Amino acid sequence: MCDESIKNPVNLDNLPDGVELFPYQVAGHKHGKGRLGLGILRHKNGQILKPLFEDNGRAVKEMTFYESVFHNPLTDPLVEELAGFLPVFYGTKCINISGKDIKYLCLEDVSGTFKNPSVLDVKIGPITYEIGASKNKINEQRSKFVHGEVCGIRVVGMKVYDEEKQLHIAQDRMYLRQLSPDTIESALSLYFTKDKFINSLMLCGFIHKLLQIDDWFSRQRRFIFIGSSILFVYEGTLSSWKDWIQRELLNCSNNIKNFDGKKSNNVDEALSNHHSPLQSGFEDTCDLCGLNKNICSEVLTNCNLFRVVMIDFAHCSFSEKEDTNYIYGLHKLLNHLKNLLKINLLQ
Ligand SMILES: Nc1ncnc2c1ncn2[C@@H]1O[C@H](COP(=O)(O)OP(=O)(O)O)[C@@H](O)[C@H]1O
Ligand SMILES: [Mg+2]
Repeated sequence: MCDESIKNPVNLDNLPDGVELFPYQVAGHKHGKGRLGLGILRHKNGQILKPLFEDNGRAVKEMTFYESVFHNPLTDPLVEELAGFLPVFYGTKCINISGKDIKYLCLEDVSGTFKNPSVLDVKIGPITYEIGASKNKINEQRSKFVHGEVCGIRVVGMKVYDEEKQLHIAQDRMYLRQLSPDTIESALSLYFTKDKFINSLMLCGFIHKLLQIDDWFSRQRRFIFIGSSILFVYEGTLSSWKDWIQRELLNCSNNIKNFDGKKSNNVDEALSNHHSPLQSGFEDTCDLCGLNKNICSEVLTNCNLFRVVMIDFAHCSFSEKEDTNYIYGLHKLLNHLKNLLKINLLQ
């Protein structure tokens, strides 16, 4: 685990006015590092800029993907539905980096509405190389994440806001690459807060969003998503969650009750009593996440303290088959999150 001060960005030498390093990037190509020295940037208008690499057709693939989804002339309902799972695409922009014009995708910053976002990037699917990939590519992918294929997912990056220290803690890349089916769930648990009530609310939101994505995958026969990720973001400032709980759960209704069924008006009392109101034996619980139905529906309709989006389509292509590789990984991730929700509810 290593501390990273978000406030002190490095090497801004070759960045033109109006663009900066993106402090909440948790994985992928970093600007100023690697073979090409290009990576994610943030424009002053708030948009994320992702470089379009020319090697191996990556650029064409990702751009074609975003264009086919957002400029969908046939208004295909399945493709329109997919757009709802992605960051908004604003087209492309050329930016001069060290004397060279580089083309970037312009995307909505999914962390843009949060004061102190905690971010997790999970690559979905056991196989992360395309059909016909070279032996070298296959070996490189296999050796990076030793247990990646059996896990079905890869935790490629995580930055969690620590309120006490007032900084983000990034998980060590080499630690994440060693994760196995036995250790990956406890690594995922590091992404959550110290507050089990709040964790349960966001896990409910995450699980429902993944189930929507899963439902879409069960119907779609358009795309194959190789090496694509799901990006999770939540508000790391716990007072924002407490305000939301007070406003939407305590003030509005009798959603939160203690064991004896009495209403709780105090947010700290409600939080310390978290497992009874969240599951509440007196009322209906949601079949999908197991939380009290009223609370679950408040989280899904009124809470903007978390986001879940699909990102990284550099290896995405068209297909007429079911994407069994992605679905396999998605189910593994869903199971881990469901287990974590159970653990948070029990303790
Ligand atoms: N739309 C976005 N909003 C916020 N963060 C993003 C967005 N897109 C990418 N990121 C951040 O940048 C990282 C790398 O993005 P990704 O598209 O996976 O690039 P690469 O192809 O280099 O892996 C992600 O892990 C995430 O932290
Ligand atoms: Mg990536």
